[in-house]
Amino acid sequence: MKKSFLLPTLAILGLLFIQGTSKTDAVSEYELHALAPDMPANVKAVVEQKCYGCHNAESKNEKGKAKLDWDAFEATKKSKQLATMAKINETLSKGEMPPAKFLENKPEGKLSESDLATLMEWSAGKKKSKE
Ligand code: HEC
Repeated sequence: MKKSFLLPTLAILGLLFIQGTSKTDAVSEYELHALAPDMPANVKAVVEQKCYGCHNAESKNEKGKAKLDWDAFEATKKSKQLATMAKINETLSKGEMPPAKFLENKPEGKLSESDLATLMEWSAGKKKSKE
């Protein structure tokens, strides 16, 4: 009798475990929505992965934070956002971000071609919303 309980219980525990581990994705997506509700999801995903770490209100990267703070970006007026987007566009078109020095130690931080295209298109003001 007891043995017949064991297998289903283990199966359920296994499923719960799998669910638990996949939840991390959902959490970061939620944080992103809080970060910038107006930004298309595909743009947010790239920013979160490749830019946010240095450019946020709590960043230890003082220079990066001073130049661009995504937390503040969200709260600023549209006109200021547009100016920041233009700056981002210019910076990216020169291939300056993420910084080359940082990429030496963390090559996986590099923007893929599609990441770059996503950010370039968005920062140029052509919002291709993919919510
Ligand atoms: C490893 C940390 C780091 C990452 C990752 C990073 N940045 Fe930066 N960013 C910096 C620093 C540091 C500066 C200041 C550079 C300076 O003043 O010389 C900066 C400056 C900038 C500036 C201002 C440039 C200017 O001339 O005013 C923009 C725009 C920018 N970053 C955009 C981005 C974008 C977009 C991403 C993601 C693709 C990104 N950054 C990823 C550290 C980072």
